[in-house]
Amino acid sequence: MVICHCNRLTEAQVTAAIAAGASRPAEVYAGCGCGAQCGCCCRTIVDLLRAGGGGCGK
Ligand code: FES
Repeated sequence: MVICHCNRLTEAQVTAAIAAGASRPAEVYAGCGCGAQCGCCCRTIVDLLRAGGGGCGK
């Protein structure tokens, strides 16, 4: 499933970045080799971070 349409990031890519240590959306983008653009996907990424035990503020 594509989570970030601007960067064409899939859920698998995002969860892989989280597993690799990303704990904030900006780190997820960086881990995927891109950056935030419209920001529409940020909420979903934060939800995945929380599900993975990370969290936006940590
Ligand atoms: S959908 Fe991810 S930055 Fe636009």
